[in-house]
Amino acid sequence: MVMSSTPIRLSRRQFGETMRRDRWWVQPLVVFLGLSTFVVYSTWAAFQGENYTSGPYLSPFYSPEIFGASPHSWFGPRPAAWPAWLPFSPALLILPIPGLFRLTCYYYRGAYYKAFWADPPSCSVGEPRSTYWGESSFPLILQNAHRYMLFLSLAVLAVLAVDVWKAMWFTDSATGTVSFGIGLGTIILAANAVLLGGYLFGCHSMRHVAGGCVDRISRAPLGLRAYSCVSCLNRRHMMWAWTSLFSVGFSDLYVRLCSMGVWSDLRII
Ligand code: FES
Repeated sequence: MVMSSTPIRLSRRQFGETMRRDRWWVQPLVVFLGLSTFVVYSTWAAFQGENYTSGPYLSPFYSPEIFGASPHSWFGPRPAAWPAWLPFSPALLILPIPGLFRLTCYYYRGAYYKAFWADPPSCSVGEPRSTYWGESSFPLILQNAHRYMLFLSLAVLAVLAVDVWKAMWFTDSATGTVSFGIGLGTIILAANAVLLGGYLFGCHSMRHVAGGCVDRISRAPLGLRAYSCVSCLNRRHMMWAWTSLFSVGFSDLYVRLCSMGVWSDLRII
């Protein structure tokens, strides 16, 4: 039997060209607006260097406060040797850790590659470049630092959990006595720690750690259950990424506005 074949010439799509009829541009646009808003607000808040504590509450942007003027500071005020020309804020010392962790996150990479430099704009939509370098050459090879940022971020998360505990102890300004209590700020900081935990423990790199850092999961029986837990969180990694991003920004806003006297903390217990 003779089979005939007709060669089909594949032509390269122009940038933005597509046969898709759905609103494929909505998701990258929402990502662009969401991440831009967060980056602008967090940068502004980090450079303020004030109004980041209120009562027992400490903004997560400023925690741990390594050097600073508040009672939460680990090593006291700004070092005398700090150059006068260099802006100082306790947040600038710590924010690079969660910032680089999110920047190198597998989910965010896929999201901001589409939303910020349209490469690709979306599936089946023409790209701006004709070459593909992937993430195996400079500068995107630096994304591999994600696993190391995970370990540093876990340490920061542990500090935020301690902050929640501290946010349950209120000092009476008149008598100076310290008593247990729960305010709306305590709940906001606790919810933030839980959401950040869901985001961190669902990290793709965490699956490797939870699996015992071996290539075959069957060789790490003790890690199997932990691996399953991480995989469960990982299935909703996008949800954890966005809810924790919102909660960490809102936690800073709440503490800031309470500190400025714009909002009053609601004492529940
Ligand atoms: Fe998203 Fe690690 S892959 S936090």
